[in-house]
Amino acid sequence: MVKWRIFVGTALAALTVAAWGATASPAAASAGPGDGVAGPSVVGGTRAAQGEFPFMVRLSMGCGGALYSPTLVLTAAHCVSRTGANTSITATLGSVDLQSSSRITRTSNYVYRAPGYNGNGDDWAFIRLSSPVTTLATLPIATSTAYDSGTFTISGWGAAREGGAQQRYLLKATVPFVSDSTCNSSSMYGGEVIAAEEICAGYTSGGVDTCQGDSGGPMFRRDASNAWIQVGIVSWGDGCARPNKPGVYTQVSYFSAAIRSAAASL
Ligand code: ARG
Repeated sequence: MVKWRIFVGTALAALTVAAWGATASPAAASAGPGDGVAGPSVVGGTRAAQGEFPFMVRLSMGCGGALYSPTLVLTAAHCVSRTGANTSITATLGSVDLQSSSRITRTSNYVYRAPGYNGNGDDWAFIRLSSPVTTLATLPIATSTAYDSGTFTISGWGAAREGGAQQRYLLKATVPFVSDSTCNSSSMYGGEVIAAEEICAGYTSGGVDTCQGDSGGPMFRRDASNAWIQVGIVSWGDGCARPNKPGVYTQVSYFSAAIRSAAASL
């Protein structure tokens, strides 16, 4: 069993700028998929520009998220412990630099974890913010399978290589869709992927992937109107960026009705 869903945990709060600085160099930005060289972040990525992905959220337990509405952040169920009142989470938004003096922060007041979540599938949750963020664009979710293929963008402040440090600056990369049949083949996950609920993305040769600390963040692409649309939530993988081990993401389209009705109730 290789479903690594471990997020970084509260120790993250102790992370220093110095620790981030050690991994934030863009020196390896030319690293390509499968060449075995870790890029500056998300594994095999490059730095996102300020404002490029306005909906990206960093959560204080060491996860990512996406701004779904002015008061709701969509993340992974495995990033939270239960449904109920919760004032312990800090969301940081509006800046690629988590230390920027212009970053926006909000405190949570409620967590909604997908009903039925038991560590296998159903990996989505909402975090409700105690006051709305009205200055940033939200990320709409896919409500059909129309966009569940093609090339996806991944982004986050998680590790830039397996076992590596969390990042100060937001990183991004693109990864291709991997079909359920390929992802569940014996050379990949051998049946561990829940085909209806999960969507795989990555290169057969590895090299580009989300990693620990990216969990809960969105995987997204352009829709027919060239707007960003969320198709996945970072969920799990065997290590990070290993050959034949694509990232596995919650398939947002499958849960879209449940996500919408939960949002309407929050
Ligand atoms: N479970 C990890 C987290 O909590 C994310 C894992 C993603 N892994 C991958 N190889 N795509 O941050």
